[in-house]
Amino acid sequence: MTEPSSTLPTRILGKTGIAVSEVGFGAWALGADWGTVTEDDALAALRAGVDAGMNLIDTADIYGGGRSERIIGKFLNELPDSASSGIHVITKMGRGEGWDSSADAVARAAEGSLERLGVDSLDLVQLHCVPFEVLSEGTVFASLEQARDQGLIRHYGVSVETIEEALFCIRETGAASLQVIFNIFRQRVIDELLPVAAEQGVGIVARVPLASGVLSGKYTSGHRFTDDDHRHYNANGEIFNVGETFAGVSFDTAVNHASAIDALLANECPGATPAQKALRWILDYDAVSTVIPGAKSSQQARDNASASRLPRISDDAHAGLADFYQREIAATVRGVY
Ligand SMILES: NC(=O)c1ccc[n+]([C@@H]2O[C@H](COP(=O)([O-])OP(=O)(O)OC[C@H]3O[C@@H](n4cnc5c(N)ncnc54)[C@H](OP(=O)(O)O)[C@@H]3O)[C@@H](O)[C@H]2O)c1
Repeated sequence: MTEPSSTLPTRILGKTGIAVSEVGFGAWALGADWGTVTEDDALAALRAGVDAGMNLIDTADIYGGGRSERIIGKFLNELPDSASSGIHVITKMGRGEGWDSSADAVARAAEGSLERLGVDSLDLVQLHCVPFEVLSEGTVFASLEQARDQGLIRHYGVSVETIEEALFCIRETGAASLQVIFNIFRQRVIDELLPVAAEQGVGIVARVPLASGVLSGKYTSGHRFTDDDHRHYNANGEIFNVGETFAGVSFDTAVNHASAIDALLANECPGATPAQKALRWILDYDAVSTVIPGAKSSQQARDNASASRLPRISDDAHAGLADFYQREIAATVRGVY
């Protein structure tokens, strides 16, 4: 790959001031926890996403113990400088072994990511769903600012689990952006977070946009995920926050919701897949800076990028989904958010 063949519409990522593609590349599955994704498939997916115009890749130091960052580093390395310099990798820290809020630990984590990614400075580091007590105690933000002063990172943001944490970060910290679970199953964000973030100029990165793939409509009740897929071992929050798997809805219920949503969106965006419509629904909210669907193949990466070019979903369909959320979905979302 030389230069990307297309560009996608961009939005400003909050206080970073960086213009990022509306649809970015979620790279958790390139590390682990989603069944087998070979390095060849991972590289092909990255190439396809960037070739389709994505200029943002979201990863974390712990995805596959650094595998996701290493593969992204390999991908960046195969590009000419003119192309790789236009790609913004946003990574995370805060969950690795031995990590704490100290300046030393933050600098060490940043140096590890820099090495794996093969870059000189990290565009944006996001705290990786650290406990609220760590956010509110504050040392970590001083440590991030020190890392910024040292040139290890350019900006910092926070990936959070709850709206309360998000609002705290907007009001009390220098976070440039927030990463939140936002999809058709998780609509509280619309009224409770997006207006405040927009007013304060804090970017919103929308994660788990396909509710771990269920909103693509391709799964049927009773489907069995492989043992090394979090959709098997964390289906009910056994290992980490239940919200990170199917956005907190139990699998069979999520499949039923997805089918009802498909019917409600039947007349929208002709020719688009349910996954693309689910992404378009998120992008219709202007306060969202970028949506980062995970992709395990080049086809998924291309399909996801295309959502950016779909027409907006009609007001009637938005109202229908808001009503469906209140009536049917809200009570089925498990876990704090
Ligand atoms: N704590 C955190 O900060 C945190 C937590 C979670 C996620 N994230 C970030 O957010 C990103 C996105 O979230 P996610 O990956 O958990 O969930 P997601 O984007 O809702 O779902 C991704 C999965 O959906 C399926 N898929 C993707 N595109 C598709 C398409 N066009 N058609 C059909 N199926 C498609 C793929 O799995 P299958 O093909 O196997 O179904 C893919 O792995 C992650 O990659 C990560 O970068 C961050």
